Amino acid sequence: FLSAVRSFRVIAGEQRTGLLFTTAVASRQFSDNIYSKQQDCPDRERSRSVTSFYFQSAIDQAANKPSVRLTPAAILYSGKSNDDSHILRSAQYLHKELPVRIAHRIAGFRGLPFIIGCNPTILQVHELYIRAFHILSEFPPVVDLNIEKDFSDTLRSLLDDHKDVVTLLAEGFGECRRHINDENLIKGFLDKTLTSRLGIRMLAEHHLALHTETRPNYVGIVNVGFSPRKLIEKKADFVRNVCQAKYGFSPDVKLNGHVNATFPYIAPPLDYILTELLKNALRSTVESNLESLQNMPAVYVTVAVNEEDFVIRISDRGGGIPHSYVNKVWDYNFTTSGNLADDRIDGGLFGQVMNASNSGPMPGKMHGYGFGLPTAKAYAQYLGGSLTIETMSGIGTDVYLRLAHIDGKRESFRI
Ligand code: ADP
Ligand code: COI
Repeated sequence: FLSAVRSFRVIAGEQRTGLLFTTAVASRQFSDNIYSKQQDCPDRERSRSVTSFYFQSAIDQAANKPSVRLTPAAILYSGKSNDDSHILRSAQYLHKELPVRIAHRIAGFRGLPFIIGCNPTILQVHELYIRAFHILSEFPPVVDLNIEKDFSDTLRSLLDDHKDVVTLLAEGFGECRRHINDENLIKGFLDKTLTSRLGIRMLAEHHLALHTETRPNYVGIVNVGFSPRKLIEKKADFVRNVCQAKYGFSPDVKLNGHVNATFPYIAPPLDYILTELLKNALRSTVESNLESLQNMPAVYVTVAVNEEDFVIRISDRGGGIPHSYVNKVWDYNFTTSGNLADDRIDGGLFGQVMNASNSGPMPGKMHGYGFGLPTAKAYAQYLGGSLTIETMSGIGTDVYLRLAHIDGKRESFRI
């Protein structure tokens, strides 16, 4: 066992070294500390560097603090000032809040079973968070708008450095989940990590968007005249184009219900969820109609908007989900993509096209990892809603996405 642990550390050490040599100047001091003596005695130093993941008092202290979560209404109506003091206040909040949230995430990585925590891809993400913690917590107090500009630049590059976190986690857990039987352990970690990350990214994107108040209808990332119809049409066009490119044909996507409704909403997470759900609906329709691609049944999207919430139902005639695995579709890393013998059915290729063109606000190639449904459900719950499936095996599937309004008229979820 000890020799297995030792070789894990060696692999992990090599992986980290590669990552750190490509990171920004701001983290150099931190990486120098970790790796300074590595060349003298590689094995010993590598194991010391793994230890350093677990002994960092600044991170421990921050991880013990509670996070301060805001309602979307508090974000929306926090007030706009002519002298940009609202931007300064927003930066000061993030400067204090983000290290705490990131420290919570690091505590999550530390709590993983050792055999999972040592997977090189998962260690790489763990290290990205340690790096982000140091960069943000060592950033000087944001006392004026000049420093705020540097703070925003730092935030922007961190968002970019972390853009592949979901894909890396999907790969990492795909590689090592066979070592662990407790599905709840993985689910608990990933639900928490992915939704907390969503919150962090929304807050950071919102702050950056406060600088560019030229878009009509927007306050930061909040679209005060959000139209579900417009977003659904945009996403449907995108997924249909992918389908056309792969198969030469695509099912139609037809929209009905409250198509003219508008209300304030934060589109990026919904953008992500809709892409995943529409992709699943189109994929199942194509794959169950390979003999009649010119004449596929349409996918119907129905929108209902009421005082309490809004609901989007996506109905396909893609054959439904068999009883044998209907309960597994909510497990992270469960996928039937790439499993099928018919070479016309190539979920993987469908996925690659999706991935290449999906550079939206929640980037990260997803298809084929079995992360789409569980991630979409965790996001929906984080946003005060739910995601459920009613499937008629042999016919098709209805997916119901319910989301809470963010207008501040009732008890709200917090970001
Ligand atoms: P992925 O798309 O990467 O496979 P998802 O989590 O989105 O991951 O979906 C998991 C699995 O659930 C799919 O591989 C597919 O077998 C099944 N599935 C999801 N949506 C549908 C649907 N609308 N019709 C039939 N099967 C579906
Ligand atoms: C993430 O995207 O994983 C983040 O936590 C972003 C943050 C470092 C700004």
